[in-house]
Amino acid sequence: MALIDLPLLMKDAVRGKRSAVTCALKCGNQCAFGPCNHSDNATFRDVASAALSRRTVLGGSTAALAIGLAGTQGALAAPAGSTGAAPAKPKTTAPNGSALEFEAIAPVDAAADEFTVPEGFEWRSVIRWGDPLFADAPEFDWDAQSAEAQKQQFGYNNDYTEIQEIPGSKGRRAVMFVNHEYTNENIMFPASLDEDEVIDIGMAAHGLTVVELERQNHNKPYTYVQGAPLNRRILLDDEFALTGPAAGSDLLKTVEDPEGRTVLGTLGNCAGGLTPWGTLLSGEENFHSYFVAPGTSEAEQRYGLRDAPTARGWEKKHARFDATGEGYENEPNRFGYIVEVDPFDPTSTPRKHTALGRFKHEGANVIIAEDGRAVAYSGDDERFDYLYKFVSRDTYVEGDREHNMTLLENGDLYVAKFTGNSPAAEIDGSGELPSDGAFDGSGEWLPLLLDGESAVEGFSVEEVLVHTRLAADAVGPTKMDRCEDVEPSLHSRRVYVACTNNSNRGVEGYAAPDETNPRTENRDGHIVEIDEQGDQTSTTFAWNLLMVCGDPAQGDQTYFSGFPVDQVSPVSCPDNLAFDAVGNLWISTDGQPSGIGYNDGLFRVTLEGDARGRVEQFLSVPRDGETCGPIIRDEDRTAFVSVQHPGEDGSFEEQFSFFPDYDGKGPRPTVVQVMPSKPGRGLGR
Ligand code: FEO
Ligand code: CA
Ligand code: CA
Ligand code: CA
Repeated sequence: MALIDLPLLMKDAVRGKRSAVTCALKCGNQCAFGPCNHSDNATFRDVASAALSRRTVLGGSTAALAIGLAGTQGALAAPAGSTGAAPAKPKTTAPNGSALEFEAIAPVDAAADEFTVPEGFEWRSVIRWGDPLFADAPEFDWDAQSAEAQKQQFGYNNDYTEIQEIPGSKGRRAVMFVNHEYTNENIMFPASLDEDEVIDIGMAAHGLTVVELERQNHNKPYTYVQGAPLNRRILLDDEFALTGPAAGSDLLKTVEDPEGRTVLGTLGNCAGGLTPWGTLLSGEENFHSYFVAPGTSEAEQRYGLRDAPTARGWEKKHARFDATGEGYENEPNRFGYIVEVDPFDPTSTPRKHTALGRFKHEGANVIIAEDGRAVAYSGDDERFDYLYKFVSRDTYVEGDREHNMTLLENGDLYVAKFTGNSPAAEIDGSGELPSDGAFDGSGEWLPLLLDGESAVEGFSVEEVLVHTRLAADAVGPTKMDRCEDVEPSLHSRRVYVACTNNSNRGVEGYAAPDETNPRTENRDGHIVEIDEQGDQTSTTFAWNLLMVCGDPAQGDQTYFSGFPVDQVSPVSCPDNLAFDAVGNLWISTDGQPSGIGYNDGLFRVTLEGDARGRVEQFLSVPRDGETCGPIIRDEDRTAFVSVQHPGEDGSFEEQFSFFPDYDGKGPRPTVVQVMPSKPGRGLGR
């Protein structure tokens, strides 16, 4: 049989444009149960009606749509522009001297099952779900899947993706790290497949992958190397070491791990980050959806744990996923961390760092502060949850990798409180700018853990680190509109926070709009820019909104740092962030403009100069897909994205996407490389 009765589970669960299937499988239908944060805070007052009355409807014509043509056959797709995508605006010079010049594509209709790139570019699969990683691994076969095969193959729903050159390879070999956030059994397997098999294969399709890539030279695409020495799958029965002050805590002990120091596997891995010492971080996000739990304690409720069958039913085969069972009460406490993996050592034990707290981590990104300490930023991606910062106890030592790999094991943990500088009455929920012309203000990092001691009255150190959401509630941080990626720029040292959306902002009974989260029922999200003004360890900061997203042509009240709204690519639901070599921000989306139905994409945003706030769409992913893990290598005029959940709403018998092979079988989540279609001759060269 296929997955348990999804339609029943999904009933009334969907909010906004989010696919019902994605809701059920990715987040355990968290939307249907409402936000988990019921701590005291300003609630909706009387702002909604005022907001609606002030809302400016711009009207205007719909932007030209690039409607999908017939699928591009084979791994190497047709050149860009063959899709009929019309430039959204005239070609401009690449900002800040980037070598990656392109003409923005028009948004692509959500019905199109195609991968669209700018004119002069092409795309190519790097690795697909099921591709064999090891020398003896079997080729992927839609009709003969098995858990044993899947354990040796690339996992499902690739999300965070990072590539590092292998030293000494002269740019020809690289090691890629990819996490696999979740599975969609409905489109992976025929309904006739035995439930046991569905569970076993589904579990094997979760986890992490490390795989080597090679290319002939900078002008040629990367391909993955089957059987390469660094290739690795990290699976749900692999050991992770808990580190930091909560390791060994009673809160982390189970009947299978009475020491509370070793966890099997990682779950819900979403975004991540490359550390300055060359390891990878990955965030355990919607872990709650894999567990049955009593759901009676304050802590369980705060994390969305419930006494109900899970979508995948793993609890039927593995006792540890049923936390109502004796000895397994703490198993969910062992997920929700930042994990760290050394991709250069296939024998290394991956670690879960309790010092960074436990919540629905989107990911984490590290920058070395001016005094040498490592600072990690991390968002808790749930409506009305918080933004966090970790500052290491010890300092970074250039060249001492072994030491640097301990930096995330001890330090201070903070949560953010934002204050706006405009009168509250001017934040009316419409997204219209206040009279000082900016959503901006100051902020504080409120301590949760300082110098190894709890900074929260009534919470022990281990309680702060395991029940972090409850500890944060006690100090009054700002309830955010779902912090996804949080990325510090190595160019400006400013920090960018993607707030993807929040359907409940300003709704009766929930927190009102504030200057940092200024729109009622925030459908399209926004980006916060934080400036710690020369000290990344500071407990104060300045902030402003870089952009308030949406489609101006559809009447959305938007803001792009003053850049003309009729000259930007419409952008909605920012999720993952990246920077190019010259400091431009790149945004990938998860839920493009919801009212009109565009496919998700990847966008470049100019941060400096007169064109600050300009948004240019670089690519668009196929139907139902989400754009994840962007990597920008503008020096090579190339970019990588992970296409997650293409064809999510289909079924095995009636697939909605055939990306990337277009062979009539079904979709395969895939890491894609985009590069100039004339090797060695990028646009403008
Ligand atoms: Fe897995 Fe926050 O997106
Ligand atoms: Ca202001
Ligand atoms: Ca994400
Ligand atoms: Ca998302």
